[in-house]
Amino acid sequence: MRVVVGADDAIATGANLVAEVVAARPDATLGFATGATPAPLYAELARRRQAGLVDFSRAHAVALDEYLGLAPDHADSYAHQLHREVTGPLGIAREHCDFLRGDAPDPDEECVRYERVLARGVDLQVLGIGRNGHIAFNEPGTDVASRTRVVQLAPSTRQANRGLLSTLADTPEAALSQGVGTILEARRILLIARGAAKAEALERALRGPVDPACPASALQLHDDVTVIADEEAAAGLAQAGAIRST
Ligand code: PGA
Repeated sequence: MRVVVGADDAIATGANLVAEVVAARPDATLGFATGATPAPLYAELARRRQAGLVDFSRAHAVALDEYLGLAPDHADSYAHQLHREVTGPLGIAREHCDFLRGDAPDPDEECVRYERVLARGVDLQVLGIGRNGHIAFNEPGTDVASRTRVVQLAPSTRQANRGLLSTLADTPEAALSQGVGTILEARRILLIARGAAKAEALERALRGPVDPACPASALQLHDDVTVIADEEAAAGLAQAGAIRST
């Protein structure tokens, strides 16, 4: 595991990794996280694309999760956010985007379909981490072998995500989410953590035991994980002298 701490340096490291993956395989499949955390990474990638430094025109995009019941054209759906904030600015063709359908008539069947999509191979998965240690919508207690499925959201997750939806009451109580086991099958993983609110979760994920109580700790089982964190999110690691950059 490679851990890079800093503001601009860490974002540059993440952008370099994405660019490297696409340079090596122009038709790479990239898994994108939503949320506030990866926004600076996506902005940097869009800047590089504008400057002609990276070309996503043949790349494919997949999602980590989606709110149950929201259609892709719903402004609060993750599919909509991904198109608006990531794949649009990066120039990834719509026909190369295959996101979870929150409004699928049979959500369980949609999860099975998505496992088949992901089984073709995810070259790089971008991840955030929740304050409670979740990755995607795999809340504490999730088995490391879990697959894409319908999940109930923890009250704290609904609260934390409120800003994206109009009110807490409007925030769905369930989602479709890649499982921890599904995520671990990506060839490379880029975990991003920003802000003091993530410090404890990041410390548990990287330094604690592999434990379903902190789903992100399962990333210790993967052999190609890059963690980029700002100083605030890495505070617990720094105090323990545990930052490694190899
Ligand atoms: P955030 O979410 O980027 O909105 O903090 C991260 C996550 O919950 O995975």
